[in-house]
Amino acid sequence: MTMERSTSITLRPARPSDIDGIASLVNGYAAEAIMLYRSPDSVRMTLHDFVVAVGPDGSVMACGALKEYSPSLAEVASVAVARDAHGLGLGTAIVAEVEKLARKRGVDELFALTLTPKFFESAGYIVGDRALYPEKIRRDCLKCPRRIRCNEYCVVRPVQEAIAVAA
Ligand SMILES: CC(C)(COP(=O)(O)OP(=O)(O)OC[C@H]1O[C@@H](n2cnc3c(N)ncnc32)[C@H](O)[C@@H]1OP(=O)(O)O)[C@@H](O)C(=O)NCCC(=O)NCCS
Repeated sequence: MTMERSTSITLRPARPSDIDGIASLVNGYAAEAIMLYRSPDSVRMTLHDFVVAVGPDGSVMACGALKEYSPSLAEVASVAVARDAHGLGLGTAIVAEVEKLARKRGVDELFALTLTPKFFESAGYIVGDRALYPEKIRRDCLKCPRRIRCNEYCVVRPVQEAIAVAA
């Protein structure tokens, strides 16, 4: 991380005490239609899929999750960084933690749907075609209010490539 505050920020798997902080961070962006809404209960049920960056006071400054669709395919989901911590490398660090989790679980391929493809491109992803991910379309897109006029980009990365770069 490139930030002076980095020494006081901890990246780790999410804990029950992070649930409200994660929901609040994600839902601040959901209110602006930048992200999908997550209830605290839905975060609780998938807490083992979340990673967080917490400040010295334990507050959630950033989060991200691995959303599995099959043993080999998963989405990098719910990536969010608190506004006052943008541009410091936290988003990139969260994506790298989600990739580590993917590697541990044996996932081969990662994708994300995003309004900010440049952020993912800087983390090594390439713009792809969401039609290649019918699992995502079935699970989320069909019930999304934006499905007809969706302006999100699909970005893709093989997990092996992420590991090779990190090594
Ligand atoms: C997108 C987001 C996660 C980026 O987090 P961040 O910690 O500010 O990103 P980083 O500091 O790690 O930036 C890494 C790179 O992405 C670029 N980047 C970050 N946000 C960007 C944006 N909104 N548009 C274009 N590029 C962006 C940075 O310029 C940087 O580029 P560089 O490697 O060439 O220097 C953060 O702005 C955010 O939480 N946005 C709202 C939620 C959201 O859009 N989530 C995206 C996934 S759904």
